[in-house]
Amino acid sequence: TEYDTILVDTRGRVGWITLNRPEALNALNGRLMHEVVDVATRFDADPGIGAIVVTGSDRAFAAGADIKEMEDKTGLDMVMEDHFGGWARFAALRTPVIAAVAGYALGGGCELAMMCDIILAADTARFGQPEVNLGVIPGMGGSQRLVRAVGPYKAADLVLTGRMMDAAEAERSGLVSRVVPAGDLLTEAGAVAEQIAAKSLPSLYAATAVLDAAQETTLAEGLRLERHVFASLFDTEDQKEGMAAFREKRAAEFRHR
Ligand code: HXC
Repeated sequence: TEYDTILVDTRGRVGWITLNRPEALNALNGRLMHEVVDVATRFDADPGIGAIVVTGSDRAFAAGADIKEMEDKTGLDMVMEDHFGGWARFAALRTPVIAAVAGYALGGGCELAMMCDIILAADTARFGQPEVNLGVIPGMGGSQRLVRAVGPYKAADLVLTGRMMDAAEAERSGLVSRVVPAGDLLTEAGAVAEQIAAKSLPSLYAATAVLDAAQETTLAEGLRLERHVFASLFDTEDQKEGMAAFREKRAAEFRHR
């Protein structure tokens, strides 16, 4: 398949998606959303893929939703075309997704990173929700996921001032999983993705599902879900293999990976 706004690559069991609109700092337009969702959905359905990396350029992960595309729209347009609807499908992928962020991750770019399971940041990364500077508010989940990620006071600071925070502040705030030197970002992302992709797929799918549930259920509900999902994995060959391999002091040979 030919894509205009992204580069796609498969290396072993890892699917790579590189946002590629350098002329617009990878601003997320409708075309890019459809292309990302299309390839991510295909990776998600492919048992040969155990992890997905989403990245941008050195200068920008993504500088937000495409302002020029949105500028003239009415509220009705936004509703009728479900302007950001595809991103909900991206956020619901069961394959682990790693965002590898260098440079700007602003507005929709920060929100896209927060739809991923793991956020690796280069020391050059800059995160922010600058929508208030445009007379709007975050529209791809930022007002909700950022509060859950960094707490209400840091989130309000970012959403109300529209300022950017650097990688160190993002790490202190709990927005990123790890910070690495910019030159190591893709190597590190590839290593993390390969480490994940070597596990058994049913356990990865189970893990992303319960981790996602933790963002939106009560503790009691979440613990009930965890107990059921945990039990269900004892009906997989890979659980038998994983535990036998431990006992026999050898590497596990998972079938579903
Ligand atoms: C469309 C964008 C863009 C964006 C940058 N560009 N961000 N185009 N949408 N979000 C374009 C610029 O217009 C310019 O193209 C080119 O990319 C390079 O950007 P410059 O501004 O020249 O670069 P620089 O001076 O280095 O400044 C970088 C920047 C700035 C600080 C990141 O570009 C910026 O502030 N961008 C907007 C960030 C933002 O507000 N994001 C939130 C969007 S709203 P031309 O051809 O003009 O030279 C959002 C929320 C969605 O994401 C929900 C709301 C409803």
